[in-house]
Formats: sequence, C-alpha cells, structure tokens
Amino acid sequence: MARPTVFVTRVIPDEGLKRLREHFDTTVWPHDRSPSRDEIIEQARGKDALVTLLTEKVDATLLAALPSVKIVANVAVGFDNFDIPAGTAAGVVMTNTPGVLDETTADLAFALLMATARRVVEADKLMRSGTWGGWGIMQMLGHDVHHASLGIVGFGRIGRCVAKRASGFSMKVVYSDAMAAPPEVERELGVRRVSLDELLATSDFVSVHVPLLPETRHLIDAAALNKMKKSACLINTSRGPVVEEAALVAALRGGVIAGAGLDVYEFEPKVSPELVAMDNVVLLPHIASASYATRGKMAEIAAGNLIAFFAGDTPPTALNPEVLSRAHAKA
Ligand code: GLV
Repeated sequence: MARPTVFVTRVIPDEGLKRLREHFDTTVWPHDRSPSRDEIIEQARGKDALVTLLTEKVDATLLAALPSVKIVANVAVGFDNFDIPAGTAAGVVMTNTPGVLDETTADLAFALLMATARRVVEADKLMRSGTWGGWGIMQMLGHDVHHASLGIVGFGRIGRCVAKRASGFSMKVVYSDAMAAPPEVERELGVRRVSLDELLATSDFVSVHVPLLPETRHLIDAAALNKMKKSACLINTSRGPVVEEAALVAALRGGVIAGAGLDVYEFEPKVSPELVAMDNVVLLPHIASASYATRGKMAEIAAGNLIAFFAGDTPPTALNPEVLSRAHAKA
C-alpha cells in the first residue's frame, strides 16, 4: 500500500522529521522562510497531511484548495493560526503540541522579566560600546525582582510555571483568570486570584500568559496600561495581538509604565520602530519555547499525531477529535 504523503512547511527538529520520514512520503519546504499560501498549495496539492508552524494560517480557503488533506499538525501549542471550525467543517483533524513547552516558556518569561528589570541588555551594550569608564554608584540602576509583586494574566500551565519561579525570588504573586485555580494549587504556589484591574494596579511586573482569542485580543490596551504603576514592567511571551502595540509604545513614551520585555509582536515579523529605539525595552524574536529539548519534543508530538491518525487511532493532542471518522473516510 502507498505510504501517506506529508508536506512539512519548514525544517523541524530531527525528533519529528525522522519519525515522519520513517512512516510517510515526506516533503519538507527547504527554504529558511515560511512558504506563501500559494507555495503551500503548490507543494501540498494531493497530499494527505500537513505539518505547519504558527506562521501558517490554516483556514477554509487553504483547506478548500487542498481537499486531499485529512490532518494538519501544528508544531506549536498556540493554535490561533488555525480556524478550527473550518477544519471541522472540512473534515480535517487539527492538532497542537501542549504540555511540553510550559517550563521552557516560563524560563524565558522569567529571563525577560529579569533582563528588563535589571537592564541586562542595555548594560551589555554599554560594555560592547567600549565607552565604559568603570564602576559607578549611580550607574545602570534598575528594579528589584526579589520581593516585588508579580501579576500573572492567565493562570494556565505556563502561568503556573512562572509562579513557581517567582516563589524562589520571594515575589508576591497574584493572578487573573476567568477560572480560579484549585485551592491546593493556589496554596502550593502561594498565589491569590484577583480581578485584572486589581492585578494591573498593584503589580510591579505584569506577565501575560493567555491564549490569543477574540476576547483576549488587545486585552492590554491603553486603558489597561493606564491602570499599571508608573514603575511597572510589562512582560509578554504569549501572543503579540494580546497587547495593543501602538498603545504600548505610547505608554512607554509617556512614562505611563517603566519598561517592557517582549517576545511576541502584534504584527510579526514587524516590530514597531519606536520599541526598537527604546532602552527600557528588551526585544526577543519569539523564542520562548526555543530550547533544543523542547522544540524536539514539539516536533515529536506533531509526528506522533500523524502516525496515530494514519494507524487509525485518535491523535493524542487532537483539537477537534469529533471529526476523526469523517477525516478517515476522506479519499
Ligand atoms: C509558540 O509560540 C507556541 O505556541 O508553541
């Protein structure tokens, strides 16, 4: 029997690619950039499955152009690039990679928080400039992280991992979330649930960990930023559009907040030039889950989903498992 055919939209770690190649006729986009929509359609025409990254939008139009596709596996936990109802309507199973990147993402959120608070990037630039004149008591003063208050917006798996790290720094942690965490989790992590308004008004650091949904787009807008302390820093490792970037630029310019640490941007890969020019902002290129081990595990999960599907099983991290029998019945 012919092996199922798969198009992978970028080179992914070997932990996934090897498994895909063992089981399927696998074509990988060879370039160091995302394929355009037309290029995806051209490459994936007639194929049984797609492996995508968060840079590829998978919606009704794409799926209509690729009627042979039965499953699309995202190598990301966030799936705001997927139109799940469109996948379900088209009888296409969609999967993501939850559970393996929480600690790694929390590590980076904390690195960003510390770098922003203690001006690590700015200080590094000074050293490289060749202009450092020696130790100075008034030099590069920053904000203490230890014993500061941290507000975690969105208390899912990643938000909780950030809280765990904060306890090592004796931070006072509050969180806001539509759902309260179980009391034993709150006790263990030493956290308290408050309204978003209270969190914004009282936190020295606000770290955002919500998924991008219609109701979280621009959750942090001008009004929210105005509620924050003037001395506070905003950290975003979730999705760019959760923060209204123009409002953030205005808030940083106007001294409404003290600084920001960003891993994600509203219009990726574009970054507001005003942010680039600001010393009180640390900018990273969307690398929160970018450790060798974690990216390997993400690729492995995506491959595992395809392998399970083509073996007639439910992919372990299917987002719309109800569509399974229709997907299997597709020619
Ligand atoms: C990364 O941003 C992911 O969603 O996995």
